[in-house]
Amino acid sequence: MALMHGGQLQQVAEQYEIPLIDWLDLSTGIAPTSYPIPNIPVNVWQQLPQLSPKLIAAAKQYYQCSQLVITNGSQAIIKALPDVYRKKNANGQAVYLPVRGYKEHAQAWKIAGYKLHWYQDLLPEIENLAENSVVVIINPNNPTGQFYTCDVIKQYHEKLKQLNGLLVLDEAFIDVMPSENSYCPQVNDNHCFVLRSFGKFFGLAGIRIGFLVANNDWCNTFAALLGPWQVNGPAQIIAQQALSDTHWQEQQKQTLKKWRTAQEQTLWQVFSKALILDIKGCDLFLTIAFKQADSAKKIYHLLCQQGVYCRLADEQDTLRFGITSADTLARLENACAHACEQLISEK
Ligand SMILES: Cc1ncc(COP(=O)(O)O)c(C=O)c1O
Repeated sequence: MALMHGGQLQQVAEQYEIPLIDWLDLSTGIAPTSYPIPNIPVNVWQQLPQLSPKLIAAAKQYYQCSQLVITNGSQAIIKALPDVYRKKNANGQAVYLPVRGYKEHAQAWKIAGYKLHWYQDLLPEIENLAENSVVVIINPNNPTGQFYTCDVIKQYHEKLKQLNGLLVLDEAFIDVMPSENSYCPQVNDNHCFVLRSFGKFFGLAGIRIGFLVANNDWCNTFAALLGPWQVNGPAQIIAQQALSDTHWQEQQKQTLKKWRTAQEQTLWQVFSKALILDIKGCDLFLTIAFKQADSAKKIYHLLCQQGVYCRLADEQDTLRFGITSADTLARLENACAHACEQLISEK
């Protein structure tokens, strides 16, 4: 069954009978400003896309790694991994996953018949990990914002090496943090790899690019599996320039931090401590947990009625908001204030 994610604006717009153009879409964790699209020569559209050595070099520099595979989004690896892992390690059965987190990981392992074990914010007890097992860590977690340091990750990596297992690190949202928080430079064997997503931080999810940072063996396996022409030529040109443009990256980080801080303050003020339990996240999204769990579903609906689309958790007890730019923060504030008044008047 297809999972629900944010970004399904068309469907939601129809449901609430509000024209697409009138929505404020905060349902994903994609940056609201994107890397400027450079001029793309006609021949790039015309030719079959060969993998660009310039893009590979730019990506290795940006991700601080020596080996990687370029994919049409890290989702391609997430979906294919369980069957690939079975061929590499026929004894693997147990997979440890966060209870809350990008659900495509769990779905892929479940479909392939693995036994799923869940952990909360605290990683599974390291001494209890099974031989040949897989641990999936989303860092920082989407939607909880939970973050694990490289020292903690290293302990799991070392343990899984002893157990002949695998650590899958999904760093889709880590670009907003200082680069030393990424584990990419420490990937050096068969027992750990990192997934990186291009679309979120660079605000270009539509071009579909992602990266697998892994050792030679994993890279060769996935490169062979995915085959040629994974990533189209125009996307390669855009990504190569974006990954090389350190000035733009620094500005983007500062802008997102500024907007996130303003939005977090606004959300606290407008919903007030009476309603909110906590707000967690990173500079690409904010997740609100409410004191009364059913508030999330009600507020989601009240916001949609005003053309503001956020992400209601599958558990229906939290709301995740993408970061809004300064010019639309007032609209979000007004819509939340109105939703709040209605929620209180209903009680
Ligand atoms: C945590 C996480 N990992 C991976 C992905 C897949 O992203 P992509 O395929 O665009 O790299 C997503 C998408 O939202 C995500 O939230």
